[in-house]
Amino acid sequence: MLERFKISNLLEKGGRLIRKPSFLVGMGVLFILLFSAAGYGVWTTQQPPPQPIQFNHSIHVELGAQCLYCHPGAWRQASAGLPTTAKCWGCHQQMPNTKPEQQKLVVFVERGDPIPWAPVFIQPDFVYFNHRPHIAGEVNCETCHGEISRMTVAQPNPRQNMGWCLECHRATAGDDPDKLARLTDCVTCHR
Ligand code: HEC
Ligand code: HEC
Ligand code: HEC
Ligand code: HEC
Ligand code: HEC
Repeated sequence: MLERFKISNLLEKGGRLIRKPSFLVGMGVLFILLFSAAGYGVWTTQQPPPQPIQFNHSIHVELGAQCLYCHPGAWRQASAGLPTTAKCWGCHQQMPNTKPEQQKLVVFVERGDPIPWAPVFIQPDFVYFNHRPHIAGEVNCETCHGEISRMTVAQPNPRQNMGWCLECHRATAGDDPDKLARLTDCVTCHR
């Protein structure tokens, strides 16, 4: 499938194709995709973004809090979701909250403001990703996000590019040709 999009193959088709308006529009779309993807690449290789509160995953996971307790969207819908301030406060109202980062939480709760978390993992708009089929397919959070449970701050995983998605989709399909076609079809991830 990808072979068809190689620049050399396109050039082989010659000037006749290049003069077609639909071809020019197609190339325009391709360039927009390429440039936004390049910007995205630069973004993900950076350090984790500054957060309004240094939320420590390892402390909370060690306490026994499950990933899906705070990110329940992951098995139901496209987006995993982040916990609300009320969910934090459910536990934190029972403790002194004397640490500086905990006091920041208290301020958000008292003001009734949501915590403006900065996104760490984010795909460009032209990519369609959905957590649900992955959790249903028993792919672990860690396979895609790294050892979040050992992190003091959620770190980006710069590997999350198209080749990475396709590599696992090919392995998942095994020698089932229908599944391979479905999981590697462009419109599965670009719609
Ligand atoms: C007590 C609640 C809580 C638990 C339990 C928890 N998380 Fe989180 N998670 C958060 C909060 C709050 C953020 C936003 C702050 C940040 O990104 O560091 C977050 C951020 C993330 C992000 C980055 C989100 C983004 O913006 O891209 C990932 C990925 C993630 N968590 C995965 C996990 C995994 C995997 C587990 C289980 C090992 C887990 N979380 C357990 C609260 C929790
Ligand atoms: C399942 C209960 C639970 C939930 C839900 C929870 N916490 Fe905690 N959190 C704790 C406990 C217990 C501690 C450890 C208390 C201590 O050491 O003072 C802690 C510690 C912390 C600390 C101090 C970490 C450090 O560096 O020592 C911060 C900050 C914090 N939580 C923020 C949050 C935020 C923000 C949320 C919501 C996104 C949240 N917590 C949700 C139970 C919870
Ligand atoms: C197959 C790989 C994969 C698996 C498995 C996976 N994620 Fe994600 N996750 C992603 C990708 C890709 C994004 C970025 C999505 C986007 O920007 O559209 C993301 C984004 C997130 C985000 C931030 C945006 C949002 O969706 O709310 C959180 C939080 C998150 N994942 C948590 C989890 C948790 C918790 C699990 C396990 C229950 C998990 N993920 C399993 C690939 C995965
Ligand atoms: C570690 C393995 C793995 C990775 C990495 C992965 N996927 Fe998947 N993906 C799966 C599995 C397993 C399924 C469920 C297959 C099935 O339907 O049987 C799936 C299904 C999907 C589906 C639903 C397909 C349908 O039938 O509609 C979409 C959309 C998808 N993945 C997008 C992505 C994108 C985008 C990425 C990269 C950002 C990605 N996946 C990375 C394993 C993976
Ligand atoms: C399993 C999911 C998946 C499938 C299938 C898929 N893509 Fe992608 N594609 C992605 C993701 C994720 C990105 C963004 C990350 C990146 O740039 O690698 C992307 C980026 C792109 C880009 C931006 C340029 C680039 O390479 O960075 C183009 C163009 C593109 N895809 C075309 C295609 C075409 C054509 C097909 C069908 C042959 C296809 N994609 C199939 C997931 C997928």
